[in-house]
Amino acid sequence: MNPSKGTLILTNASEIVTLKSKDSMPKFRMSGHELSLIKNGSLIIQNGRISDILDHPFSESHFPTSEPTTLVDVTNKTVIPGLVDSHTHLSFAGDREDELEKKLQGVTYLEILKQGGGIMRTVKATRKATVNELIRRGKENADIMLKHGTTTIEAKSGYGLDKENEIKQLTAFNKLNEVCASSIVPTYLGAHAIPPEYSDQREKYIDLILQEAIPEISKGRLAKFIDVFCEKEVFSIDESREILLAGKNAGLRPKIHADEIVRTGGAQLAAEVEAISADHLLRTDDDGFNALADVGVIPVLLPGTTLSLMNNEYPRARRMIDEFDLPVALATDLNPNCFCFSMLQIMTLACFNMKMTPEEALLASTINSAAAIGLHENIGSIEVGKQADLVIINAPNYKHIPYKFGSASLVDMVIKNGKVVASNTPALIKTTM
Ligand code: NIG
Ligand code: FE
Repeated sequence: MNPSKGTLILTNASEIVTLKSKDSMPKFRMSGHELSLIKNGSLIIQNGRISDILDHPFSESHFPTSEPTTLVDVTNKTVIPGLVDSHTHLSFAGDREDELEKKLQGVTYLEILKQGGGIMRTVKATRKATVNELIRRGKENADIMLKHGTTTIEAKSGYGLDKENEIKQLTAFNKLNEVCASSIVPTYLGAHAIPPEYSDQREKYIDLILQEAIPEISKGRLAKFIDVFCEKEVFSIDESREILLAGKNAGLRPKIHADEIVRTGGAQLAAEVEAISADHLLRTDDDGFNALADVGVIPVLLPGTTLSLMNNEYPRARRMIDEFDLPVALATDLNPNCFCFSMLQIMTLACFNMKMTPEEALLASTINSAAAIGLHENIGSIEVGKQADLVIINAPNYKHIPYKFGSASLVDMVIKNGKVVASNTPALIKTTM
C-alpha cells in the first residue's frame, strides 16, 4: 500500500506504548525493548512514517498550514504498534469444520492426516481453485485480521504441493499486497506434506522441490522464506535439512515447523541452518532452547494451535523467557485446523495458558513478531522514522488487551502506512484543507 500524503496527528492518547529499543541491547530481543509508556501524548505522522512523538496533547493552533492535516482525538484510548502475525497459512480453498467432531471423538491430528483428511483435503480443494479465488479468499481473511489490528501477515503456501500449484498460491500472496491494506510476506512451504501422487516415491517429490520449485520461486522472487513441516511421519530431520539449505542457497531464509507433535530435534536443526525462526516448539527441551538462544533463532509460539488440537499442552514460554532469554514471538497459525484471525485472542491465550505477562504478549505480537519475519527495522514499534502502522485500542491502557477477550470493539482504529484503513469512530476525525 502506498504511504499516505499529508499529515496525520493522533492527540491526547491515554497511553502510547512505543516499545522503543533500549540502546544497549539487540533491537528485537524481548529484553531489548521496553514498554516506554507515554501518557496524554501525541503522534505526528508524515508521508506514512512517524515523524514526531510528543509527551503532551497537540494543540490545533499548531496545525501546519501548508498541507492537509487530519487530527484524530484519541482521548481515553491506547495507541500500540500494528500487530504482526508472523505465521499463517493465509489463503486456501475449502473449510474443515467437520473435523472438529472427529477431534472431539479423540481422533488425532496425524490420524486425520493419514485418513486423507487434514492438509491433504485442503490440498485437493486448493489445487482446484483459480488464482483469483485464492486472492479473494486471502483478502477476505486479511481484511478480518485487519479489523483485529493485524497490519502485517506472513503467509505460507503448502496447499498446492506440486510446483504449479505452489506457484499459484505464492502468486496470489504477492497479488494480495496490491489489493489488501495489510502487508503480506510470502513463504514457500512445498514441504508441508508428500502429495498423494508421490506417496510411494518421496525422494522424487523432494527432488522436485530441490531441482524445480526452489529455483523457479527464487528466480521469480515469489517468496522471502522457505519453511518445512519437520515432524514424525511428515518430513524427517535429514530431509528438512536438505530442503532448507537448498532454499537458503537460493536466497530464501529458512523457517521451520519444529517439535510440534513429536520432538524430533527441529529446534537444533533451526539453529544449524540459521533459521530466522523456529515455530511451534511444543515438545522442545532445554537442549533445543539452548541451540535457539546460541544462534539467535526466534521462537514463534502458536497457542491457538494447541487450543484447536485440544491437547492442552502449551509451549513453555516461561522457561524460554526466564531461563534462556529467548525473544518469544506469537502468531495465529491461521489455517483450516486452527481458524484464528485475531492476534488479540492469541495474546489472551499466551497470558492465560502460557503465563506470559500482558507486556510480554504485546512485545511478542509486535516487535518480536516483526523480527521473526525480518522486518523489525521498519515496523513493530513506535519510533521516529518507522512506518506508521498503528492500532488504537478502545481502552485506557494496554493491559485491557489480553484481559477483555472476545470483544468486537476493542480495536477502535487501524492505521497502515499512515492511512486510516479501519475505523469505528469517524466522528473523532477532523480534517483541514
Ligand atoms: O502449522 N503443522 C502444519 N501445518 C499447519 C496445519 C495445517 C493444516 O492442518 O492444514 C500448522 O499447524
Ligand atoms: Fe503452520
